Amino acid sequence: MNSVLSPCDFHQTLVQWARHHGRHDLPWQLSPSPYSVHVSEIMLQQTQVATVIPYYQRWMASFPTIQALASAAEDEVMSHWQGLGYYSRARNLRKAAQYLLQEFSGHYPRTLKQIEQIPGVGRYTAGAIVSFAYNEPGPIVDGNVRRLFCRYFAIEGIPASTAVNRKLWELAEQYTLENDCRPYAQSLLDMGATVCTAKNPDCPGCPLHESCQARQTDRVAELPTPKPSKKQPIRSGLFHWHMQQDRLYLVKRPSPGIWASLWCLPQETSNQIRETDPPVLGTFKHTFSHYKLDATVILERSLQTDGQYFSRQELTQLGLPTPIRQFIEQHWPDDTGMLYNQ
Ligand code: ADE
Repeated sequence: MNSVLSPCDFHQTLVQWARHHGRHDLPWQLSPSPYSVHVSEIMLQQTQVATVIPYYQRWMASFPTIQALASAAEDEVMSHWQGLGYYSRARNLRKAAQYLLQEFSGHYPRTLKQIEQIPGVGRYTAGAIVSFAYNEPGPIVDGNVRRLFCRYFAIEGIPASTAVNRKLWELAEQYTLENDCRPYAQSLLDMGATVCTAKNPDCPGCPLHESCQARQTDRVAELPTPKPSKKQPIRSGLFHWHMQQDRLYLVKRPSPGIWASLWCLPQETSNQIRETDPPVLGTFKHTFSHYKLDATVILERSLQTDGQYFSRQELTQLGLPTPIRQFIEQHWPDDTGMLYNQ
């Protein structure tokens, strides 16, 4: 059995592989700045590259600098995120820009320690910014690296557990060298995304296959150890549909919370349909990361008074949660077709 490569050989093997097989034309790779890497890395959390590209391009066109983002209205920022989900990411990006303006006069800091203090930036994002923007050593562990390392080093145990997580970060630090930091970090992500994939990994095409510990012990399919599956609870939600002179009543959701800072149909705090049921306009379902929502929309005036009425046209300027936007599109058709031109 072959043992694992030294950090130096591992690094060299991956950087060489990436020259021919890595991705080099993603929009955030063209002229990476700490701000553009920050934006792209936040968007790429939990979202596929192909989905992110048009969002990234629209974002950078509207908010090309830290200053532009810091001074943008929250609604405008949120409307750029609609459809991407996990909206706290957008709110945190705006907060981050305001923080950078206040604490660093808009000049992006350089060290891992300083970058980790920015709102919404964790250890992975800080490492990615240092590697991609500065080409300096920034260890990274995301889902791609976790899968690759769990297999290459045959690490057993649930990857999110403290013990396994600690081990993965130790390895990430040990295997991050001083040179070629940007191509090395990109090669780790590209390997995880295109070769060492969750399903049907391409072991014959992998430059590490001769020393991969999982492959040599025939455990590629078993690693990383799968998380025990937990059934998601189902919650019901009751929403109000109320129109006045062809305008729909919406409220801005409180922050923090689900769909924070997005405009939404008013939601009743008690989710029980009452004895004298108002007519039901329709239903929709939505899956969140930790529960499933079974929603009913009733034709009734909301008791909430802090909302506003919007015309169909005005809705295009607002950030709305995707399932709410889809529901409105279905129940308030418009002769121009789609509400949003994405
Ligand atoms: N996922 C996270 N960061 C990425 C990057 N820079 N390129 C491709 N996929 C990524």
